[in-house]
Amino acid sequence: MAELIDGKALARQLDTETKAGVDALIAERGVAPGLAVVLVGNDPASEVYVAHKIKACARVGISSQEHRLPENTPQDALLTLIARLNVDPTIHGILVQVPLPQHIDAGVILGAIDPGKDVDGFHPVNVGRLSTGTGGLVPCTPLGVMKLLDTVIDDMTGMNAVVIGKSNIVGKPIAMLLLEREATVTVTHIETRGLPDIARQADIIIAAAGAPRLVRGYWVKEGAVIIDVGITRVLNPESGKDKLTGDVAFDEVQHARAVTPVPGGVGPMTIACLLSNTLKAARNAGAQIHG
Ligand code: GUN
Repeated sequence: MAELIDGKALARQLDTETKAGVDALIAERGVAPGLAVVLVGNDPASEVYVAHKIKACARVGISSQEHRLPENTPQDALLTLIARLNVDPTIHGILVQVPLPQHIDAGVILGAIDPGKDVDGFHPVNVGRLSTGTGGLVPCTPLGVMKLLDTVIDDMTGMNAVVIGKSNIVGKPIAMLLLEREATVTVTHIETRGLPDIARQADIIIAAAGAPRLVRGYWVKEGAVIIDVGITRVLNPESGKDKLTGDVAFDEVQHARAVTPVPGGVGPMTIACLLSNTLKAARNAGAQIHG
């Protein structure tokens, strides 16, 4: 049986550390770290994610603001809100939930956030810092993935890591973080030819393609470590209800050394890392370099 990597338990542990850090910061400066979460439109999945993020802030003592804007909000109005949040001294982290409506250019919006408050790590300055190994705020899901890997692997030097998925939010930043640990990284995606053969070479598989049960048992070599970032609502024909399904055929990969469950693996870590990033941004406030 593969070891189950418990993302929920690890997230609770990280939250305890974050809460201690928040309490210390309040004692030192008399101000709680503040996070502004911006949601444009009514995407149901985004609404659920944002609700989780706001609730999580309260757990660790971070003060949060939710800004809900209608689907037809003009891009300029969103830029005005971001400009206001950028200079608000009580706000240390700004998160604009993506996807944004089609008429809004996400690149322009994410690039307008003060890089020091960019707790998602999506601003080009933070992307550049990550790819040059020069600090900055690191995207939450990739950060959570590395913390999950750290619970089962002491040293990644020279290991073969195969990342499936090339998104700016997950696949690309994870590849950078794995390279920093001296892993040998292959970035693949849904169009990659011979993907099962490539995956079978991997000591570490990061499945982040958003394709339910893409990674089958025969893709996985004995003893590999698998992190399943995928989370898709799939109709379960037996119960007639939706079921959250990962990118990995979990029941077929029990010959792996360790695997994360869905749900209860990467998801809780993403939120825990958002909270720790907000604390980091609040600690750095005043010393930030504006990009
Ligand atoms: N949409 C899906 N994941 C994320 C995330 O980590 N941050 C933001 N801002 N939007 C998302």
